[in-house]
Amino acid sequence: MALPRARVRSWVAVTKTAHRRCSTEGTRRPRSLASGNLSAALYVHWPYCEKRCSYCNFNKYIPRSVDEAAMERCLVTETRTLLQLSRVQRVESVFFGGGTPSLASPHTVAAVLEAVAQETHLPADSEVTLEVNPTSAPGSRLVAFGAAGVNRLSIGLQSLNDTELQLLGRTHSASDALRTLAEARHLFPGRVSVDLMLGLPAQQVGPWLRQLQELLLHCDDHVSLYQLSLERGTALFTQVQQGTLPAPDPDLAAEMYLEGRIVLRESGFRQYEVSNFARNGALSTHNWTYWQCGQYLGVGPGAHGRFIPQGAGVHTREARIQTLEPDNWMKEVMLFGHGTRKRTPLGKLELLEEVLAMGLRTDMGITHQGSSVFLGRSGCVGFPAADPSASTPQGLAAEMPFPCARRMTLCLCVPS
Ligand SMILES: C[S@@+](CC[C@H](N)C(=O)[O-])C[C@H]1O[C@@H](n2cnc3c(N)ncnc32)[C@H](O)[C@@H]1O
Ligand code: SF4
Repeated sequence: MALPRARVRSWVAVTKTAHRRCSTEGTRRPRSLASGNLSAALYVHWPYCEKRCSYCNFNKYIPRSVDEAAMERCLVTETRTLLQLSRVQRVESVFFGGGTPSLASPHTVAAVLEAVAQETHLPADSEVTLEVNPTSAPGSRLVAFGAAGVNRLSIGLQSLNDTELQLLGRTHSASDALRTLAEARHLFPGRVSVDLMLGLPAQQVGPWLRQLQELLLHCDDHVSLYQLSLERGTALFTQVQQGTLPAPDPDLAAEMYLEGRIVLRESGFRQYEVSNFARNGALSTHNWTYWQCGQYLGVGPGAHGRFIPQGAGVHTREARIQTLEPDNWMKEVMLFGHGTRKRTPLGKLELLEEVLAMGLRTDMGITHQGSSVFLGRSGCVGFPAADPSASTPQGLAAEMPFPCARRMTLCLCVPS
C-alpha cells in the first residue's frame, strides 16, 4: 500500500512540538473524558512473539514467518472500519500492545496512525504507546518508532534477576533490560514505563524489594507492578502442578505489594491504579480511559473494545471481541473489513458493573465521568467531575473509604 508519508511526517512533527511544550510546562495528565461518545482510545494488537514466555496466556503466536504487508493492510482496514462504525470525532490515545509490537515494522505503526489521522482527529498531543521487549528494541529501532509517531514506551522488564528471567522464559538478561530502559529514556524522556512482576515461585520479599530499589535508580516516571497470575495452560502452571517448582506464596506476594507501594510512594510515585504508579503527572491516558469507562476500539486479533457503534444505527454501548487467530482474523478483515467475532450489547446492569469494577481500581474511586456511562450525560447530578490530576486519593487504593462509598450511593440512587 502506498502510504502518504508526507502526512505521517507532518503529524509526527506536530506531535513532537506538542510534547516538548507539554513536558516543559509540566502539564501532562490524562484528559477529561467529558467529550463522552465523541472521543475514544484505540488499542491495536500485534499478535506475534519471538518465544513463548513460561507464564503468559495472552493472545500471541510464535510464527515461522509473518506476512507483515498483509498484517499492516488488515490493521489499517480494521482501524478505518471501526472508526467509521463508532463515528468518534477524536482519538485521544493509541496503544500498540501484544504479543510483541516492538517486533512490528515502524512502517506498520505509521500506517495505522496515518489511517487514524485520516479518519478522525488525532490531536498532536495524543498519547501513542508501544509495548517493548528488550531484545527486540535496540536504540535504532526505538528511533524509528519515534519517527513513526510513537511517543511513549512500555518496557516489559519483569525482573532484574537473571535466574528469575530464565524461569519466566524471557529472552533478555537484566542488563539487556537496563540498557533498553536507558536508551528509551534518552529518546522518550518522561514517557517510559516499566513492568515489574512480583510473587514468582520461590521469590522472597527482601530480594524483590532490593530489585525495586535498584529499578528506582534507573526508571523513569511510570512503573507497573504485576503480581504473577498462574495461568492454566502455561509452562509455569504445569511446573507448579507437577511439583518441579513451588507454588507462589500469596502472603509473600501481598507483602511485596504492600511494601512496594510504600517504597514507590516514598520515591514520589502516586498509585493511581491497583498496579500502576506515576510521578510528575505521567499517568497513562490510555489506561485511564479504560478505568473511566470511556470508549475504546480494539483492532487486531483478539482485541477487545467497548463503544457505541453509532454508524450502524445502534445507540447502546457494546463489548466487542475480534477473532483470535491471526490468519482467520485477516481472512475476515479482507472479506468484511473487520474481524469482529463477538458483539455483546451492554444493559444497565453490565454498565453499572463496569463503572464499579473499573472505578474501584483507581485512586479516584467512582467518578462522575464513569457513572455518566450508566446514567447518561447528566451523570451524578451535583457531584463534580473527577480531576485525575488531583493529588488526594479517594478510591480503592486510598485510606479514605468514605468519599468513595458516598459517590457509589449517589450513583446507585439516581437511575430510574
Ligand atoms: C502481555 S505482556 C506484552 C508486553 C510484552 N510482550 C512483554 O512481554 O514485555 C504485558 C505485560 O503483562 C504482564 N503479564 C503477562 N502475563 C502475566 C501473568 N501471567 N501474570 C502477571 N503479569 C503478566 C507482564 O508484566 C507484561 O509485561
Ligand atoms: S509475555 Fe510478552 S513476550 Fe512473553 S509470550 Fe507474552 S506477550 Fe509474548
